[in-house]
Amino acid sequence: MNKFLKEVLEGLNAEPKHLHSKYFYDEAGDKLFQQIMASEEYYPTDCEMEIFENQTEQLAKTLKNGFDGFDLVELGAGDATKSSHLLRQLVADKVDFNYFPIDISTNTIKNLEYNLPKEIEGLKIQGFNGEYFEMLEKTRQFSNRRKVVLFLGSNIGNMPVSEAWEFAKTLRQSLSKTDLVLVGIDLKKHPRVVRAAYNDSKGFTKDFNLNLLRRMNKELEANFNIDNFEHYPSYDPLNGSCKSYLISLKKQKVRIGEADFIEFEENEPIFMEISQKYSVSETDEMAKQAGFKPVKHFFDSKNWFLDAVWECN
Ligand SMILES: C[S@@+](CC[C@H](N)C(=O)[O-])C[C@H]1O[C@@H](n2cnc3c(N)ncnc32)[C@H](O)[C@@H]1O
Repeated sequence: MNKFLKEVLEGLNAEPKHLHSKYFYDEAGDKLFQQIMASEEYYPTDCEMEIFENQTEQLAKTLKNGFDGFDLVELGAGDATKSSHLLRQLVADKVDFNYFPIDISTNTIKNLEYNLPKEIEGLKIQGFNGEYFEMLEKTRQFSNRRKVVLFLGSNIGNMPVSEAWEFAKTLRQSLSKTDLVLVGIDLKKHPRVVRAAYNDSKGFTKDFNLNLLRRMNKELEANFNIDNFEHYPSYDPLNGSCKSYLISLKKQKVRIGEADFIEFEENEPIFMEISQKYSVSETDEMAKQAGFKPVKHFFDSKNWFLDAVWECN
C-alpha cells in the first residue's frame, strides 16, 4: 500500500479524525500556497522576506561563522524566494557552498533545479525529493562538509509543541559540532492578526485545505464531495495554537482506495493543520532542551517573526 493511502486511512480511522498537512502540496496545492503567501492577510512571508531582504549580509556572515566551505541544506524549501536572497549574497561573496534544497513535493524540487541556476549564476544546487530527515541523511552521501540548515516559513509551527521539541532534538542528533541551524518561527501577536492570516478574504486558505480532498479523489480513488465539507480556522491566544479543520456538513460515507469506507457524522471535524505561534523565550527554551545554543535573533521591523540561529553545543 502506498504511504499516502496508508497515512490517510490511519488518520481518518483515528479519533479525532486528522490528515497530514505535508500532503497539501501537490501541484495545485503548491500554487494555492503561493496565492496564500501573496494574500493581503498572510503576514509571515512578508515579515520573513523583510529579514532576508534587509539583513542579507548579516545573515550570510552569521551562517558562514568564519568557516570556508559548507553545505546549505534547506528543509521544506518551497519556492525558495526568501532563501534566494541569501544564496545570491553567498555567491557574490564567493563563498564555497553547495545548496541542497529538500522538499516532499516533486514539483517543487524540479522547479528549483531548473530555475535557480538560471537566476543565480554560479550556484551549485542538488535537490532532494523526500522527507526532511531521510533526505538530510542522503545529503551526506554527496558531501561530508559542515552543514548549515535552513528551516524557514515557520514550518516548525506546523507541528504540535511536543512534536516540535522532538523535531529539534532529532535535528540536533543529525548534526555535528560546528553545524548551524537558522529556523524561522512565527511569534505570538494580536489574535485578530493571526486569525485573519488563516482565513483570507479571497478564500485561498479554504481552497488549500479542500484541495487535499481533491488530491485524494485524484490519487487515491476517493469520492469526496467537496461541497459537503467546510473549512473552519481557529486561534487560541492562550496557548498560541492556530488550527484548521474541515467540518463534515452532513452524515456521509466516503470511499477511499478500492475497498475502504470512512463514515462522517454531521458537524464532525477533520483536524487538518496546526500553525503554532511562540514567544521568543519559548523558542530559546526549545533550542536549549534539544542541545542547541541560541546565538542570534533576527526580527522583522514589526517584531512579528523571528529567524533564530542555533549553534550545535
Ligand atoms: C509552508 S511551505 C514553506 C516553504 C518555504 N520554506 C517558505 O518559507 O516559503 C512548506 C514546504 O515544506 C514542504 N514539506 C512539508 N512537510 C515536509 C516533510 N515532512 N518533508 C519534506 N518537505 C516537507 C512542503 O512541500 C512545502 O514546500
